[in-house]
Amino acid sequence: MEQTATGVSVGIIGLGYVGLPLAVEFAEAGHQVVALDADASKVTAIEAGRSYIEDIPSERLAAVRERLHPTTRYAALAQVDAIVIAVPTPLNENREPDLQPLVSAGAALAGVLQEGQLVVLESTTYPGTTRERLAPLLEESGLVAGRTFNLAFSPERIDPGRTDFTLRTTPKVVGGLTPECLERASALYRTVCDTVVPVTTLEVAELTKLLENIFRSVNIALVNEIAMLCDRMKIDVWEVVDAAATKPYGFMSFKPGPGMGGHCLPVDPFYLSWKAREYDSKTAFIELAGEVNAEMPYYCAEKIAGALNEDSKAVRGSRIAILGVSYKAGVGDVRESPAIKIMQLLADRGADLSYHDPYVPELAGFGLRSQPLEDVLDADVVAILTVHPEFDIDRVMGESKLLVDFRGVTSGRAAERVVRL
Ligand SMILES: NC(=O)c1ccc[n+]([C@@H]2O[C@H](COP(=O)([O-])OP(=O)(O)OC[C@H]3O[C@@H](n4cnc5c(N)ncnc54)[C@H](O)[C@@H]3O)[C@@H](O)[C@H]2O)c1
Repeated sequence: MEQTATGVSVGIIGLGYVGLPLAVEFAEAGHQVVALDADASKVTAIEAGRSYIEDIPSERLAAVRERLHPTTRYAALAQVDAIVIAVPTPLNENREPDLQPLVSAGAALAGVLQEGQLVVLESTTYPGTTRERLAPLLEESGLVAGRTFNLAFSPERIDPGRTDFTLRTTPKVVGGLTPECLERASALYRTVCDTVVPVTTLEVAELTKLLENIFRSVNIALVNEIAMLCDRMKIDVWEVVDAAATKPYGFMSFKPGPGMGGHCLPVDPFYLSWKAREYDSKTAFIELAGEVNAEMPYYCAEKIAGALNEDSKAVRGSRIAILGVSYKAGVGDVRESPAIKIMQLLADRGADLSYHDPYVPELAGFGLRSQPLEDVLDADVVAILTVHPEFDIDRVMGESKLLVDFRGVTSGRAAERVVRL
């Protein structure tokens, strides 16, 4: 690999929501970057300078195209100084950690690992994964972790769709197998992050990420529970949350909603509860939060049915329009999206569904395509599930016959025929 502006070349394994932004950021910092994915279509897209991740405009990708070397071949990683692994860490059908993508990436990397390379795992996982699972895999190469190659864990904190904090301005936690591993990984991240937070062990770094996500999951569950109670008590939960948020200390505002989606919050906490069993330890908060949040789509489907009932209409045969089907605003990711679950529940009851989502052109599972806003607003009921920045809420409120708002965007506005969570 040719000499780089930074003197360090980097390989990224897994070019998804985490890996592609990272590859671009490293390239922008002057590194030569070998960008590897098992999915050839992603490699082809990068070769063409075409981004498939909303946070990375194609122009930004194209601008560093010369320093990006997309490939599906692990052999290309033999030439780089440092390799970052950002493959998925999902749950299997028994809701247990599925490390298969990591195991297969680790095994393939072992085949080309070179003395003196640094390997950093960024995938979210339970404490012990890097030391107990990844290190032995990589040592199949004949090299020794912490002695003839360096090994570190650094959790990814990217929040797709967020613009106020970026990879560069979000502090980066790093843990190393040895002090030298830590120093090398920290030096690498200092080239793309303003603040690096070194911690003493790999396990501290691994658990830090899980604590962050569990904190969110538990707080979202809490406010969802309060929302369901408020509904019965006829109190506006949105006003309550906003009022509580005026306290300048000791309170952090979390909003209720139709449930948790994406690759992180519905998945990551269960990595820890699984590991906790090995220590005869219970993780009651994780389980309870999971239960409350998983219940929300059912609750929301019922709320839509109840709104129709007030109009003397059954779910069966009613035209129900969903606004926003991705799991969060500004992105097209529908993984674990509560909107999909709600649509499935309504479809099972015979609803005539349509949706509008500028980020999700098609929902093949439902045989549906996103319709223009004006074409869905005359449905029997319109349900707001995810509020993309492009949505004209005044228009939605003005033109919907009956509106169900699960995101509180109509809160505080005088509106007839609006039902809120
Ligand atoms: N998406 C987020 O917001 C986010 C935030 C923080 C952390 N994370 C964590 O980062 C990790 C990656 O998440 P993501 O959202 O980027 O996933 P993703 O599914 O968007 O991307 C993962 C990529 O890895 C590729 N891949 C899978 N197995 C591979 C292999 N063996 N070799 C090469 N490539 C392989 C896939 O083809 C895919 O392109 C996960 O552990 C996740 O929990 C995600």
